[in-house]
Amino acid sequence: MNETVNKRNNAIEQLSRLTGGLAHEIRNPLSTLKVNLQLLAEDLREFAKDDTDKLRRSLLRIETMRREVDRLSDILDDFIQFVKYRKIEYKPCDINRLIEQLVDFYEPQARNHGIRIRCQYHQAPLIGNVDDDMLKQAILNLFINAQQAMPEGGELIIKTSQQKDKIKIEVIDTGVGIEHNSEEELYKIFEAYYSTKKEGTGLGLAMTKRIIEQHNGTITVHSERGKGTSFTITLPAENKGSEKIQDA
Ligand SMILES: Nc1ncnc2c1ncn2[C@@H]1O[C@H](COP(=O)(O)OP(=O)(O)O)[C@@H](O)[C@H]1O
Ligand SMILES: [Mg+2]
Repeated sequence: MNETVNKRNNAIEQLSRLTGGLAHEIRNPLSTLKVNLQLLAEDLREFAKDDTDKLRRSLLRIETMRREVDRLSDILDDFIQFVKYRKIEYKPCDINRLIEQLVDFYEPQARNHGIRIRCQYHQAPLIGNVDDDMLKQAILNLFINAQQAMPEGGELIIKTSQQKDKIKIEVIDTGVGIEHNSEEELYKIFEAYYSTKKEGTGLGLAMTKRIIEQHNGTITVHSERGKGTSFTITLPAENKGSEKIQDA
């Protein structure tokens, strides 16, 4: 491997260890804070039985602090997940099967949110050289976003296909869509910490994009406000697609 790339990867690995370590360190005092706020609320209720107005105000403040502590823990959890350094282990894998497994796992949650999943698989196996857990995580992030974009329910459509040496995975939803005035503005959704959600951390798509790029793939997005959004992932294929299969 190229010397500079090697050095850079080492630096990234080291930085990811450091920041991951820092995040873990912050997590402990946060849990202490959370437990103590809970106890404080209980004490207050016990001690100030008569002074209801003051008591209510104090309890509200504690409740606010507890919510913020919870929010900080969520931000940290996502951050840890995002920077966590893991060696990628590539193995030949049928992408159709991988998605089938992911859909099986996700379907009950989708159904609970009034979302119907429709799958259209390429007729032949789609062999890619992938880290299956990481690729599942990347696609799962798209499912979760799709679900959040369809609060009243809708359809989640997954299509796979192969053109020459490229595997294509499309994840389409019938949700609220993404408002944008230019492609450049639309592609901001892939930036770390970009989020339009009150409870969002903005790390989901950044993680998805990173994983896809680690697989030498690409991810693109199309979206229409009020109609829905579609993401297209392409990955290098290990076999040459249906032409070759028919030849053989
Ligand atoms: N399927 C989708 N439909 C509509 N908006 C989406 C969709 N996927 C992503 N977005 C937009 O992209 C932003 C970034 O997504 P993401 O990185 O997963 O962070 P988060 O979900 O925490 O906000 C979201 O806040 C949302 O505005
Ligand atoms: Mg998300």
